Amino acid sequence: MLDTSESKTTSVVRAISGSVETTPIWLMRQAGRYLPEYRKIRERTGSFLELCYTPELAAEVTLQPIRRFDFDAAIIFSDILVVPNAMGRDVQFVEGDGPKLEPLELGEFDSLDVNSTASTFEPVFKAIELARRDLAPQKSLIGFCGAPWTVATYMIAGHGTKDQAPARLMAARYPDAFDRLLDRLVAVSADYLIGQLKAGVNVVQVFDSWVGALDELGFQRWCIDPTAEIVARVRHQFPDAVIIGFPKGAGLMLERYVVGAGVNAVGLDWTVPLSFARDRLHQHVALQGNLDPLILQVGGLALDRAVDRIMAALGDGRFVFNLGHGIVPQTPIAHVQQLVDRVRGWSGALT
Ligand code: CP3
Repeated sequence: MLDTSESKTTSVVRAISGSVETTPIWLMRQAGRYLPEYRKIRERTGSFLELCYTPELAAEVTLQPIRRFDFDAAIIFSDILVVPNAMGRDVQFVEGDGPKLEPLELGEFDSLDVNSTASTFEPVFKAIELARRDLAPQKSLIGFCGAPWTVATYMIAGHGTKDQAPARLMAARYPDAFDRLLDRLVAVSADYLIGQLKAGVNVVQVFDSWVGALDELGFQRWCIDPTAEIVARVRHQFPDAVIIGFPKGAGLMLERYVVGAGVNAVGLDWTVPLSFARDRLHQHVALQGNLDPLILQVGGLALDRAVDRIMAALGDGRFVFNLGHGIVPQTPIAHVQQLVDRVRGWSGALT
C-alpha cells in the first residue's frame, strides 16, 4: 500500500485540494483504440475482459498514454462492467457493438451475488499495484467504478441504449425493488473502490454516464443518494479519499449533486457552461473537464480556442483539465499532443 504522505504529493490530488502551480491534465479513456500500441496489445489478447483481468497487460495499457504524452495521471485500465461480472452476470464485449450482458430480470435482483466478488476484483488490484510501482511518484493513479444507476442501466437492458428506457421502466414500475438493486451495487462498488485504494490508487472516480435520462426525483434517489452512500462507505475506511464524481448530462441538477454527493471534485461534460461551473459549482467542489471530445478530434485552431476558453474560465485553481467524455477512437495522436502542449503552455492570456 502507498503511504498517504506520498499519495498526497500526486498532482491531481494537489490540484483538487487547491494547492497546485500548474493545471494537471489527463483524459477519460486515455488508454484505448486511438493508440496504436493499445491496438497491438488488444489484437493479441483474446477478449476485452481478458485484457482487464490480466494484471501485467492491464498495467502496461494503463501506462501507455503516460509514456506517450506524460499525462499527470493514469487511470487503471478496466471497465465499469467488471462489477456486474463480479456479481455473477455474464458480460461480453462484442467488437463494434459494445457490451452485451444477460438482461437482469426483476426476480433476480435479490439473488445477485454480493459476497464472492473478491476473486474477480483481485487481478484489477494486482494491476493497480504493478502500475503504481512503475508510475512516477508525482503522477496520480486513478481508480474507478460505475455509479449504481449507470451500471444498472446496462444490467437491465443487457446493452447500451439511447434513453435508458428499460431501466427507467423498471425503476418506475418497481421502485422498492430497484432501490434494493442499487443497494447491492452500492455495497459492491464501495468495496471495490476501497480495494483499489488499498492497492495503491490515489484518487477514485465514479462514472455516472447516463444520469441525463433521470427526472428530478429520480436524480436524487438513483444518482445522488447512492453516490453519497458509496462516498460515505469509502470515507469510513479512507477518511481522506479523493473522490471525483462524473454525472454526465446532469445539467441543472449539477448544483444539487455537488452539494449532496459528497465528492471532492466533479467532472463536467462539454455541455456545462463555464460561467455556471465557475459561479455555481466551484465554491462547493474542485472541477474537472470539459473539452468536447469531438473538438479534440477536429484539432487545429478550434482546439486551441476551446482550450483557451476553458483555461481562462477555470484554470486559476482547484481544476483538472480533461475532456467532457471519453476520447473517441478516431482522434489523431497529434491533436492529443497539441492539447497537452496548449494546457501546459497556458499563460493566462486569451489569444
Ligand atoms: O482509459 C480509461 O479511461 C480506462 C479504461 C476505461 C474503459 N471503460 C475501457 C474501455 C474506463 C474508465 C471505462 C469506463 C466505462 N465503460 C464507462 C463510463 C465512462 C463512459 O464512457 O461513459 C462506460 C459507460 C463503460 C461501458 C463500456 N465499455 C462501453 C459502452 C463500451 C463500448 C464502447 C466502446 O468504446 O467500444 C466499453 C468498452 C471499452 N471500455 C473499451 C475500452 C478501451 C473499448 C473496447 C476495446 O478496446 O475493444
